[in-house]
Amino acid sequence: MKHIALVLSLALSSALVLAGPPAPKKEGIESKEYKWNAQEGEKIEALKFKGNTKEGRDGYEVCGACHLPNGAGRPDGTFPQLAGQHTTVLIKQMADIRAGLRDNPTMYPFAKELTDAQELANVSAYIQSLCIPLDHGKYEGANAAKQVADGKALYEKQCQECHGKNGEGNKDKFYPVIAGQHYKYLLRQMTEIRDGKRRNANPDMVKVIKPYTNEQLVAISAYQSSLAMPGSMCKPKGGKK
Ligand code: HEC
Ligand code: HEC
Repeated sequence: MKHIALVLSLALSSALVLAGPPAPKKEGIESKEYKWNAQEGEKIEALKFKGNTKEGRDGYEVCGACHLPNGAGRPDGTFPQLAGQHTTVLIKQMADIRAGLRDNPTMYPFAKELTDAQELANVSAYIQSLCIPLDHGKYEGANAAKQVADGKALYEKQCQECHGKNGEGNKDKFYPVIAGQHYKYLLRQMTEIRDGKRRNANPDMVKVIKPYTNEQLVAISAYQSSLAMPGSMCKPKGGKK
């Protein structure tokens, strides 16, 4: 734990040193010309490569300072879980962050350091190969059972079609894995997507969540953080549950 804290503080201080020029800022969802997942830029190049997980493991080292070496992220939601995410989603999100279509000032200096499309593909292949950790941040507020039940009803009606029954997403369609993700990260993303602040969002999803109240976002995030994807989860420690 101490070691991780040290690496993290080094990473964060070097983020300041590396900061250099700020991220570019591309117009996104609020622009009339916005086309979600436009087939252009380094994303297209990276998607063509077969990622090399061994090389990707080295490239991932710097990422582990924030997202942790096993890709678990942090239960407080500051850093998302990455483990088990589809390579397509990882490549798209990284390319969007690098191109300034998704704001991420904390990570930008590191995302910028990946050299080319091949390295993007390698790191993504490595991350996808990691099992999804069992422990993550869940909803801990009042009425948990009711929140999860309310969220489940909404999810099944409006989200499952794209994100899957178990939160498995859809690799070919660039729909993210939700299973195992931290409650607070989910709530932040849902809010930013609803409010037009995540500029690379999917317009069909935005239509669905635009009318949601804050309470509904809490409920649906509570439910999503209860999802698990059979076959992709890490084994319980010591073989016991
Ligand atoms: C200094 C900390 C830090 C480092 C280092 C870092 N990230 Fe991140 N990353 C973040 C934060 C914070 C977010 C979430 C931002 C938000 O809330 O939108 C994030 C988000 C992401 C996302 C989007 C996840 C999703 O579910 O949409 C991906 C993919 C990602 N990081 C990959 C990487 C990779 C690959 C590296 C290494 C090259 C890396 N990160 C290094 C802080 C970091
Ligand atoms: C039409 C398909 C579609 C529907 C319907 C949809 N989503 Fe999404 N969702 C997406 C796509 C695509 C993304 C990634 C957007 C991007 O490119 O950044 C996403 C992103 C997300 C994210 C952020 C994931 C991350 O790792 O950062 C969450 C959380 C999410 N959706 C939850 C939901 C919930 C809850 C609903 C129902 C209210 C829903 N989505 C409805 C397609 C959809």
